[in-house]
Amino acid sequence: MAAFLDSVPISGIIRIRDMMYTVDKPFRLDQGDVVFDAPDTVKDAIIKAVHENRTHYLPTTGVPHLLALMADKLKSKNKVPVGGPEEVMVTTGGIHGQFLACQALLEPGDEVLVPDPCWPPTASIIQTSQAVPVHYALYEDRQWRPDVAEIASKITPKTKAIVVTTPHNPTGGVLTRKDIEDIAALAIEKNIWVLADEAYEDFVWEGTHVSIASLPGMYERTIPMHTLSKSYAITGVRVGYIAVKDKTIRSRAQKLLLYTATNVSSIAQYAAIGALEGSQQCLETFRTGLLERRAMFFKGIRDKSNGVLTGEASAGAFYAFLKIKPGWKSPLGANPSLSWAMTEYLIKEGRVGCIPGADFGPRGEGYVRLCYARGTEELKGALEQIGKLLS
Ligand SMILES: Cc1ncc(COP(=O)(O)O)c(C=O)c1O
Repeated sequence: MAAFLDSVPISGIIRIRDMMYTVDKPFRLDQGDVVFDAPDTVKDAIIKAVHENRTHYLPTTGVPHLLALMADKLKSKNKVPVGGPEEVMVTTGGIHGQFLACQALLEPGDEVLVPDPCWPPTASIIQTSQAVPVHYALYEDRQWRPDVAEIASKITPKTKAIVVTTPHNPTGGVLTRKDIEDIAALAIEKNIWVLADEAYEDFVWEGTHVSIASLPGMYERTIPMHTLSKSYAITGVRVGYIAVKDKTIRSRAQKLLLYTATNVSSIAQYAAIGALEGSQQCLETFRTGLLERRAMFFKGIRDKSNGVLTGEASAGAFYAFLKIKPGWKSPLGANPSLSWAMTEYLIKEGRVGCIPGADFGPRGEGYVRLCYARGTEELKGALEQIGKLLS
């Protein structure tokens, strides 16, 4: 039975991470980790939780006060008509929420529409449910948005769900309200579920974030999947959450939460209470810092990469998904994949961490992803290296 897991791929991001450990003084633009320190609201909550001996078992779905904060946030900020805290569950980061949602929803052989390119674990998690990811394209000349009519043409009697990721990793694309409305109408017409990945909801530079579950008739067929990792710069603390209206799916997800974790770490949950209950000023501070870095980084790429790497400043998230000039030849020799050739060249010769576009799906080939949520000196250093290597 378990042998099917042998065919589930491990993301190339891990291969890159291992490569980066062999590099002296690396520029870590490869991983999607924000350089900022956690806000004091989070640090103080952790210390307080330790001193108050909050180190014991908890209700499986989460600390009741945290569930109430999450339900309120979903209602007030995301405009999702969540019935109450009982519909929410705290997960070990966003990835665990995706795992619970897929395992609770999907049957073997179900098809799930996923964007191409896409954050690699999305498709792999679908495969761990023995379901089948089916790609729908995102187009660079549409600011990395899909063609909804084309999505409709991919729906078959086996289609169970569609993954909607906005803002998007790796491209930084942000769906418009019209895109979201069209996808919602399609989901209702074809009776399919939506898995809404909102990990980057706080990082929208152009347009606004629309939670698809906020649209009429959508929450009942949508599982909104959130994480505090990126918004509060606490990727290592591991807190995410999902909300499920459907009682059957919710009860399955709760069982999976129980049998995979008992409960999410108590200290992590109190950290999350600090994040959600405390001042939200850090979101503004991080956003300002990221906007500056975005302007600086895309300009640097334009000025220094000699046209070898190109791309418009993305509408959301904190990645540059850059097109590699077709025909570019790596001085390190031939490589069947242009994106791997560029990645190996930048890492081995320039110490600049990045992820090959091919790792995000077939349409990612020919691109490379760099994360600009790093220190300004680190970004400047990486740009200098790119300048030296590509000029
Ligand atoms: C699109 C997307 N969704 C979800 C996640 C999960 O985040 P985490 O499990 O670190 O909370 C990530 C992390 O990089 C992501 O890029």
